[in-house]
Amino acid sequence: MTQARHYTYRATHKAIRHLLFSASHQVGVTDFADDGVTAETLETIDALIFVLWEHRSREDASIHPLLESRAPGVTARCEEEHEEDEALSAEIEQLVAQIRSAIGDQRVALGIRLHEQLNAYIGIYLGHLYREETELQQALWDNFTEEELLAMSRELVATIPPDRRGYLLKVMCSSCGPDDIAPILGGIKANAPPEIAQRALQLAEENLPPSIWAKVQSRIG
Ligand SMILES: [Fe+2]
Repeated sequence: MTQARHYTYRATHKAIRHLLFSASHQVGVTDFADDGVTAETLETIDALIFVLWEHRSREDASIHPLLESRAPGVTARCEEEHEEDEALSAEIEQLVAQIRSAIGDQRVALGIRLHEQLNAYIGIYLGHLYREETELQQALWDNFTEEELLAMSRELVATIPPDRRGYLLKVMCSSCGPDDIAPILGGIKANAPPEIAQRALQLAEENLPPSIWAKVQSRIG
């Protein structure tokens, strides 16, 4: 029997992919001649860029230094990719700012550019997520015990500000299957103060498809 392993990236990266793909879809269907629709789409892009920034910052602070302490050099490529990611995010933000101050045909033309540029960025970003899930995850498994990996993930989660937790859990509920979300909710139920755990479980019940919620319930009791 294969020993259960903790996947450091999987659930979070599923949530990030969901945000990337839904943002791509939203930009694709946006009528940039329409003020209201354009404003909503640009808010989605702002929210996406913020999530990517906070995710990158948490990996830089909570995973890479520990990994470097036991496997020097192993994060070098991903560190470089985080820098590239920052530059590409900044370009998207600049484009969003230009769209906000444009009108008419110029805004429509910039909307087309946003669609192209965002999708080019997503293409690059997907490769990065895959490298973390394979190369860095393998290095984590090779150099840390299961308990250490669980502690690393717990410490990373502890750095998430309380006002972001509900949002991120909601995105995870829309992105993950029962094998990913049940251990997360089980951990919250076992370790968080009762009223916080109750709120998290309620949020999960409201945001998970009923068939997944039923499986989660039977697993975490
Ligand atoms: Fe990363």
